[in-house]
Amino acid sequence: MKFNPTIVSAEEAVKVVKTNDRVHLHSVACAPQKLIQALCERGRRKELKNVRLQHLHTEGPAPYAGAEFEGVFQLESFFVGHNVRKDTQAGYADYIPIFLSETQRLIREGYCRPNVVMVQVCPPDKHGYVSLGTSVDCTLAAVETADTVIGVINKNIPRAFGDAMIPMSMIDIWCEDDTPLLTSTPAPASEIEIAIGKNAAALIEDGATLQMGIGAIPNAVLCQLGNHKNLGVHTEMFADGILPLVEKGVVNGAAKKIDKGKIVSTFLMGSKEVYDFIDDNPGVLMMDVGYTNSEFIIAKNPRVTAINSAIQIDITGQVCADSIGTKFFSGVGGQVDFIRGASLSEGGKAIIAMPSVTNKGISKIAPVLDLGAGVVTTRNHIHWVVTEHGAVNLYGKTLQERAMLMISIAHPDHQETLDKAAFERFGPHFHFVG
Ligand code: COA
Repeated sequence: MKFNPTIVSAEEAVKVVKTNDRVHLHSVACAPQKLIQALCERGRRKELKNVRLQHLHTEGPAPYAGAEFEGVFQLESFFVGHNVRKDTQAGYADYIPIFLSETQRLIREGYCRPNVVMVQVCPPDKHGYVSLGTSVDCTLAAVETADTVIGVINKNIPRAFGDAMIPMSMIDIWCEDDTPLLTSTPAPASEIEIAIGKNAAALIEDGATLQMGIGAIPNAVLCQLGNHKNLGVHTEMFADGILPLVEKGVVNGAAKKIDKGKIVSTFLMGSKEVYDFIDDNPGVLMMDVGYTNSEFIIAKNPRVTAINSAIQIDITGQVCADSIGTKFFSGVGGQVDFIRGASLSEGGKAIIAMPSVTNKGISKIAPVLDLGAGVVTTRNHIHWVVTEHGAVNLYGKTLQERAMLMISIAHPDHQETLDKAAFERFGPHFHFVG
């Protein structure tokens, strides 16, 4: 009986949600769209009040975040994705600043323990196990701790291994939906991104264990690694960029000290090709975010090279990556987890890579951070900074040395202004030799 669960409709399943409940949604491509729609219908019929919703990032529509559901749903996300950005900036939705490594802790230690969790899983295997597929992150913690777990069996969810595999007994209410997972394909890298990719790739040694962050830059870096050897992957997310490197044998995990030979991640988002890649693949472990993002676990591998991006960096090395001034654009994510883990790893390199200017020509290297911008990576954590104009290592450098190094990789159109600002800040001793 357990391997043939009783299936109910999405409408029936979401009846378990009550006013004042906290509901956790499975994330990224696994967001349970059918249950979200059914829940929103209940919201429209005013059957619910003050229901808190939480998730990392969900792909697809997120109507629950907006004005329509004021007083019905309150989104408290752990990351501000594109589909909830406007509603978060307008104040309808809210954001909980939290290291990605600790999102699971918020749930397991009771700060955000859900009453109901909604997940999508692959069809049960012959042993009565299902897989959380492309997103384990903090959703496993929600499944472990929620009063009620609703599971949607979807044949398009890849049967991923690692912590993703859970026994059917963890799920209380079953539904079905065979809607294909949402995909995303990165735009081809621009000339600037290719130049950044080359500068960052030059820092990556053979035998390195890679973490790639979010945004366009990580893919541009991966494109430059075709001639490297024995790379490994221990990351929080990956996308299509690693597939050609696996095919070529460049990524083989041979130099890793833990999870040797395996690609380790906690979520992913990409094309159908990348979802197919993790399906039934014992070479990929989809793990709890408390494992992938623990700085102590990360540091166990040698030459961990973490590549993340930023919105703005000041000339002393303070990194803002989550907001544009006061406007929240994304979240802390796993940036600090991996910057720290890479710094502690033997031969590790923590890299922040970004274009020197925005698409509107504003310098991303600034004398001081914009008013309201928060520091994600502190000036004490920062090591390498890469732009299309070069790569510098701020670690162990004084404030004035840092300013000189940062100006040296700024866009030439902005170097003079930055130099003047540094001169005003540090006095006549400061001199940038460009
Ligand atoms: N001033 C004003 N606007 C800026 C800006 C600045 N200094 N820097 C970026 N922007 C704007 C861009 O113009 C762009 O605007 P648009 O959407 O209107 O075109 C927007 O912000 C996004 O910039 P972009 O450079 O395209 O961002 P990205 O997709 O490469 O992502 C981060 C960069 C920093 C937002 C992303 O890496 C992130 O979310 N990081 C935090 C979390 C993290 O690092 N996690 C680790 C692994 S997941």
